[in-house]
Amino acid sequence: MSGAPVSLEGRPGRGYPVDLRKEAREWPRKRGGSPVPEAFHHLVIDRTLERRDRNWVYEAVRRIEADYCRSSDTHLIKLDLPCLADVDLYLKDESTHPSGSLKHRLARSLFLYGLCNGWIKKDTPIIEASSGSTAISEAYFARLLGLPFIAVVPETTSEEKIAQIEFFGGECRRVPAKAIYDEAAGLADRLKGHYADQFTFAERVTDWRGSNNIAESMFSQMGRERYPTPSWVVVSAGTGGTSSTIGRYIRYRPELFMIARLCVVDPENSVFFDYFQSGDAGLTLERGSRIEGIGRPRVEPSFLPDVIDRMMQVPDVASLATLWWLEGVLGRKCGGSTGTNLYGALQIAAEMIRDDEAGSIVTLICDPGERYLDSYYDRGWLDAQGLDIGPHVERLQRFAATGCFDED
Ligand SMILES: Cc1ncc(COP(=O)(O)O)c(C=O)c1O
Repeated sequence: MSGAPVSLEGRPGRGYPVDLRKEAREWPRKRGGSPVPEAFHHLVIDRTLERRDRNWVYEAVRRIEADYCRSSDTHLIKLDLPCLADVDLYLKDESTHPSGSLKHRLARSLFLYGLCNGWIKKDTPIIEASSGSTAISEAYFARLLGLPFIAVVPETTSEEKIAQIEFFGGECRRVPAKAIYDEAAGLADRLKGHYADQFTFAERVTDWRGSNNIAESMFSQMGRERYPTPSWVVVSAGTGGTSSTIGRYIRYRPELFMIARLCVVDPENSVFFDYFQSGDAGLTLERGSRIEGIGRPRVEPSFLPDVIDRMMQVPDVASLATLWWLEGVLGRKCGGSTGTNLYGALQIAAEMIRDDEAGSIVTLICDPGERYLDSYYDRGWLDAQGLDIGPHVERLQRFAATGCFDED
C-alpha cells in the first residue's frame, strides 16, 4: 500500500490515506483483536479456523502420525524354490499392515492429504468408491479420527470385506461396479462430505521420493541380499498408485534406474493392458475384474503407463492356481492379486533362468486369503466360474522343480 495515495470510493471521511503497516502495527496495542482496520474489512477474506477446529486438525494429524510411529515395516519374504539357483525371488508382505493390505499406506496418505489440504475437518463424513481393500483401510483411519465413513462398493465385493469395513465402523452401499464413482461423488455432495477418490489421487498423495513409501522400503530391505538391486519389480494395478510410486522411485534413484525394471500384471476384464498397448484412455468394459482389487473397467487417472517397462496379461485361472500352489510353499493363504503378481514374477524368473541371467525379483503379497474363503478358496465357487485350476497347479509344481514352464 505504499506509494500512490489510497482511494477507497464510497468510504469518505475516514482520513485516508493511512499508513496501513503502521496502523496494523499499532492496532493490537490501541484496540486489541484484529490488526485489520474496520474500514478495510471488505478487502480481507479471513477463513482462519476457530481454535477448536484447528485443535481438531492438529490432533487428527498427530493421531495418524502416532499410529505410523507404532507400526513396524512389512516383511520381505524370500521364496526358496528348488529351481531358483541364481534367481532370488521375494514377496513383500503387505498383508501385515494393521488394516490387512497394501491399502493401509494409501488410506493413511489419503487422510493426511485431505487434512493438510483443508478438505477434512471435524465431523466431515468420508466417502469412498472402493472394491473393498481401500475401504477397509479408510474405515480404520476414519475410526481413528472419529469420522463417519461410507464405502460405495461393487455388488460383487466379498462378504468378508464388507464385514471388515463394518467392523471398523464403516457403512457400505453396494452398487453395480460401473456406478461406484458417480454414486460416491453424489453421496459426498449430498452429505457435504469428502469424496476421498482414490482412483484420482492415489498417484499424488504418496510422497514418491521417499517417506518410507513402498518403493523406498522394499529397496532398502534388499540392501544386504545377494542381488540387492532387483532386476524386476512385479505389481498389479487397481488405482495404479502402487505401480506409479515404484516406477517414479526407480527413475528418481539413478542406481536403481540402470538395473531395475517395473512389470505390471493385469487380470482378465481390465482395460489397463490394452491401454498400455494402444494409448486409448477412453477404453471401457462392461464386466468388472474377477480378481478383487485389481483390473479396472476404465482407465484410472492414477495409472501412469510411462513409468512402466512391461505389462503382462495373466489369465484368472493362473492367478488362482498360483494361490493354491503358494499355500503349499508358504503355508499361508493370500488374496487373488497376490496370485496374479506371483504368476507374473514366476514367468520372469523362468525367462531369467532360460537366458542364464542371475538377479532378483520382488513382488507383493497384497492382502490375506482369509478375505476370500467363500470365493477363490472355495471349490464350489471355482467350479461355478468354470475355473479348473488343477492342471495349472501341476504346471507350477513342475516349474518349481525344473525352472521352466511346459511350453518352454
Ligand atoms: C488386494 C489388492 N491388490 C492390489 C491392488 C492394487 O493396488 P493399487 O491401487 O495401488 O494399484 C489393490 C487395489 O485396490 C488391492 O485391493
